[in-house]
Amino acid sequence: MNWSRLEKKQRVLKRLAAAGDTFGSPSYIYDEVVIKQQCKKILRLSNAYGMTIRYAMKANPNRSILRMINNAGLSLDVSSINEAARAKIAGIPFNKMMLTSQDVPMGPALDQLHNMLQQGLRYTICSRVQLENLARFNNIAEFDTAIRIHHGGGSGESDSRNTSSPYASFGILVDDIPIIKKIMLKYGLECGCIHGHIGSGSEPEIWKQHVDTMLKIIAQHFPEAHTLNLGGGFKVARMPGEEEADIRLLGEYAESAFLRFNQNYGRKLKMEVEPGTFIIANAGMLLTRILDIKKNQGAQWTFIITDGGINANVRPLMYGSQHPFALLNVQGDLVWKEGDPMARPDQCIVVGRCCETGDCQTIDSSGRIIPRSMPIPKVGEYLLVGGVGAYSSTMSPFHYNSYLQPSEVLLTENGDLFQIRQRQSLEQVIANEWPVIAHPCTAA
Ligand SMILES: Cc1ncc(COP(=O)(O)O)c(C=O)c1O
Repeated sequence: MNWSRLEKKQRVLKRLAAAGDTFGSPSYIYDEVVIKQQCKKILRLSNAYGMTIRYAMKANPNRSILRMINNAGLSLDVSSINEAARAKIAGIPFNKMMLTSQDVPMGPALDQLHNMLQQGLRYTICSRVQLENLARFNNIAEFDTAIRIHHGGGSGESDSRNTSSPYASFGILVDDIPIIKKIMLKYGLECGCIHGHIGSGSEPEIWKQHVDTMLKIIAQHFPEAHTLNLGGGFKVARMPGEEEADIRLLGEYAESAFLRFNQNYGRKLKMEVEPGTFIIANAGMLLTRILDIKKNQGAQWTFIITDGGINANVRPLMYGSQHPFALLNVQGDLVWKEGDPMARPDQCIVVGRCCETGDCQTIDSSGRIIPRSMPIPKVGEYLLVGGVGAYSSTMSPFHYNSYLQPSEVLLTENGDLFQIRQRQSLEQVIANEWPVIAHPCTAA
């Protein structure tokens, strides 16, 4: 998280300090400059014979964000029919999307899928059942299809983010490829694109092995393939001292592997990647207000209670992820940021306001609640949580304890704050509940 960029902008900091009242606290703030910068970086990825970058919209599906990323030149990875429909509403055509999902659409959802396929959506077959389901369409052979392979060499930020381990159910196992190909042949289906996503926050060395493994699989099983989609998963650094994947080196590695493949097999494969985290994780911060401070007699740490815990950022509880903090006072001074030296550091446990001990932002990678060194702020000031652009707004259980889904705000290139989603109202939370007048069991 680049707090230093923010630190120099006094005018922006003052606006942030007012944002808790204007937009409500907590609020997500997304930095347009960082999003555009990351899009430019990924578009410069080395490649041998052409490349498509697909933004994994599950990371952050806000429609203003989708438009911005699409305008920057990225296509989309979507993970459900609803995501595809949502992106279409944002103005992105289906032929710029690739759907890779665990879902098996049935009934009206299957008709919806058919309609999208006819408009150019690419569909990734991830299981035999999905393939048979697709075969209900008698024009199946006309569609743009891909096949997701599970080769077992996965890696992720935590075990639960490794999507190619023996415990992950995604895609078709290498041993099952012959049977899947037989079924495809029956339906006259050829898979132009071979897909593999091994996890989020993958180790770069394992990602390189993934490139080699996927190319071997294509050489052995898919003579008709023209594209290799390597998924997403590029590791980013949220905390000071964390090391992020060097995507320049990874791109160069992939480029030379694709060149070698052509020398060996006479095939010029196109490359695709699907980053979500890389594009948006470090563009996002959460503005939370400090509600309470508890220092119990004899306790070794201080509890800092904010209004933005798991219901705005569940990643520490889900994955043991570390997110950097900064303290902003009500006058708009950034009084401390993660990594700064401290005159009198304290040991603090930062928690939210939900009825869960695990509603905590200071959890280690093995899931234990741990204090963090930081100065003790004042009640009413702001704690900024960095690195929350991806999988925070979209994943967090915001309704728990009947809290409201927070607003989302864009910090524009010229330093304005522009609301791109307003905070939910209580009426919206209960809108689909029926008012029960008499419970049938209690009626006489
Ligand atoms: C199929 C697929 N592609 C891409 C991604 C994006 O991963 P990341 O956000 O780590 O780049 C995911 C994430 O779960 C995924 O499942």
